[in-house]
Amino acid sequence: MQYLRNTWYVAMWSEQLVPGKLERREILGEPLVIYRAPDGGVVALQDRCPHRFAPLHLGKLQDNGAIECGYHGLHFDRHGSCIYNPHGKGLVPEAAKVRAYPAHEAHSLVWVWMGDKTPDASRIPDLSMVGQAQARYITQRDHLEMDAGYQLVVDNLLDLSHTVILHRGVLGNADTASAQIRVDQQGDVVTVSRWMPSVRPPGLFDMLFRRDGEPADHWTDIRWMAPCYLVNDAGVTAPGADRAEGSGIYGRRAAAQRSPRTPWRVRPPMAIPFCRRTTVR
Ligand code: FES
Ligand SMILES: [Fe+2]
Repeated sequence: MQYLRNTWYVAMWSEQLVPGKLERREILGEPLVIYRAPDGGVVALQDRCPHRFAPLHLGKLQDNGAIECGYHGLHFDRHGSCIYNPHGKGLVPEAAKVRAYPAHEAHSLVWVWMGDKTPDASRIPDLSMVGQAQARYITQRDHLEMDAGYQLVVDNLLDLSHTVILHRGVLGNADTASAQIRVDQQGDVVTVSRWMPSVRPPGLFDMLFRRDGEPADHWTDIRWMAPCYLVNDAGVTAPGADRAEGSGIYGRRAAAQRSPRTPWRVRPPMAIPFCRRTTVR
């Protein structure tokens, strides 16, 4: 399977990277060991020792931030260079090198650059809403694994028309079915939106707002940032009122393809860290 490589992928939530622990992840079919260096920075290395291919995440993290391979004890620093050989005269072969992946922390997520071009941190999509939670909101962070290709999730979430049938009465109803859907594209960002003035609010939004079934202005907007980031904003407000006076759900998803989908794999190939922010009334 071919992937877009010269882009950032989400490996995990920041808090999952506990100091002193080696985490294993698979992204685009490549095994990675990810950990925090002593200075707090994030390190991502190929999870395979160049000596006899032992997985490095089964080794030990040293005080200097190097990993000791659990098989014969070679040490690799954060750049993937072998810096110590406990055997014989302690010679370090030049070829003993592990691939290091540029890694970055932003928006409470750990990002890894999988390509060979120079990474550009400014290209990390803006998912900053999680850190901006106020008392008025409940923010839930979560993580979902699916046995599916990530493009199917993108396809489903940009497809607003299915809510009326598949989530009948909960996320859509006959009033919302007749509203126009608008699609805008700017560069690598596609926004699909539906504006529904003065409609009977679908069940979930009525529950989050006035709980009286009375007409409300309702919106559903979803933004896709290629290749796999989605932010959706759906809510209701009193007819003619500002959106900020209403209620709703704001969610983001970062789908990372772990490995090619094959029928014989038992491990799910896709991981989606996501969060929802719900307005509390
Ligand atoms: S396999 Fe890693 S040191 Fe031998
Ligand atoms: Fe759906």
